[in-house]
Amino acid sequence: MENSQYRKKVTANGLAEKKLAGQKITMLTAYDHPTAKLLDDVGVDVILVGDSLGMVVLGYESTLPVTMQDMLHHCKAVSRGARNSLLVGDMPFLSYQVSIPEAVQNAGRLMAEGGMGAVKLEGGRERLETIKAIVAAGIPVMGHIGLTPQSVHKFGGYKPRGKSATEAARIVEDALLLQEGGCFALVLESIPTEVAELISHRLDIPVIGIGAGLSCDGQVLVIHDALGLTDTYQPKFTKRFVDSSALLRQGVRNYLDDVQNGLFPSENHTVHMNPAEFDEFRKMVG
Ligand code: KIV
Repeated sequence: MENSQYRKKVTANGLAEKKLAGQKITMLTAYDHPTAKLLDDVGVDVILVGDSLGMVVLGYESTLPVTMQDMLHHCKAVSRGARNSLLVGDMPFLSYQVSIPEAVQNAGRLMAEGGMGAVKLEGGRERLETIKAIVAAGIPVMGHIGLTPQSVHKFGGYKPRGKSATEAARIVEDALLLQEGGCFALVLESIPTEVAELISHRLDIPVIGIGAGLSCDGQVLVIHDALGLTDTYQPKFTKRFVDSSALLRQGVRNYLDDVQNGLFPSENHTVHMNPAEFDEFRKMVG
């Protein structure tokens, strides 16, 4: 659906209704105003200001260096661009792991200062009490289990999770606990499709997959991967829906050619003085 002014505002309840109706939920990341506006206009259900911004926008090797300040800066830009999509802000590393009061306060800042409609945080049973406290403060929480990039050093890389029966069963238990804890939706990252299918069927809340197969209630991708904005390594589970990088490179080459060959700015891009004013001007400056 193009043009956000005719679209209903997406809410957490709206996502649950979509799950019930068997309609797939769409979610993409955005980190700036124009991208948020574009996604909102095209009709993306959920815009995630992911801490992936550390890697795709700020040039870090992982998401760990991303701060609350970074998140707030990008959340504010996104919230000024989107009218109808549900906005979810990622809680960065160490903004919710140190203490529950600090977690509630930081979640509140993403809402009040960042303009988000919900927050997302990584982890299963070990985050249950934190999630309950944030939900009790009136803040919708999206869970995130499976591959959790903030724990990259604990797990020794960005490998898929839940490939053994024991680990898969633990992920299912975590999913159920997060639902009981009050999460309104759950991201499953990089787990076998069989496990994601079972979780999506068992849970009442929407399950949004990234590298978790087709059976999830919705899908999420990092916008730079989906639009081919980077030339760097892409995990197997992402798809380039368009090669923007090639398009952008061509645009820059066209600009260089035109400037270097004196073709830009042309008459169309040029402002003139009216002749009388110009005469006057020449007299004044000799
Ligand atoms: O930070 C992010 O972009 C994410 C998605 C990959 C789900 O958490």
